[in-house]
Amino acid sequence: MASESDAAKDGFPNGVDLTLHPTAQTLAARSLEFLKEVQNLTPGKELEKRLNRNYGPGNEYYEDFCKYIKQGLEEGWVATANIEGPTYRRGKISLPVAENLYMSLTAVYFDSQEEFSGQYHKHPYGEINCVVPIDPTFELEGLPVGENWQGAGWTSLGPGTHHYPRSRGGKGVAFFFLPSGRIAYDAKPGEPQPLSI
Ligand SMILES: [Fe+2]
Repeated sequence: MASESDAAKDGFPNGVDLTLHPTAQTLAARSLEFLKEVQNLTPGKELEKRLNRNYGPGNEYYEDFCKYIKQGLEEGWVATANIEGPTYRRGKISLPVAENLYMSLTAVYFDSQEEFSGQYHKHPYGEINCVVPIDPTFELEGLPVGENWQGAGWTSLGPGTHHYPRSRGGKGVAFFFLPSGRIAYDAKPGEPQPLSI
């Protein structure tokens, strides 16, 4: 693991330096191949179903994403910034640029057996979320709240949705793509959701 380096404190606000981290470079390259396949699909329930049907465990993109994220945790460039101590951490991997079809790459690390709620947020353009269990019992929540716990596989929340990112069942990572990198922390619980989530 990385020590308390400057990089660990700032969580790589401009993304990981791919020239220093070959595994991150490989992850970014694989992500681009994947994004080329889904770039014209809108985040939301239909995409979530499609991803779980066609890109779930056993799919080579999914397996590679899990492998490189786990490797990145060991190498110390995944989710380096503590949000609430070491059990809830976040880090940008790539900002949205032409080379990734303007889809940012981010990882959030969770470690909680009990249901844990992270920072409330909204995705103006939706999100595509690869669920990477470290412990096999790890689950991340999609929407609707309380009805959609997802282990190994995917969640995808539609444009304008907002939620507490919730996890349970131990250690795991949410590795996600955001169109234009858009995420907003000014949403409030109780605000209406868009018609399509
Ligand atoms: Fe989210």
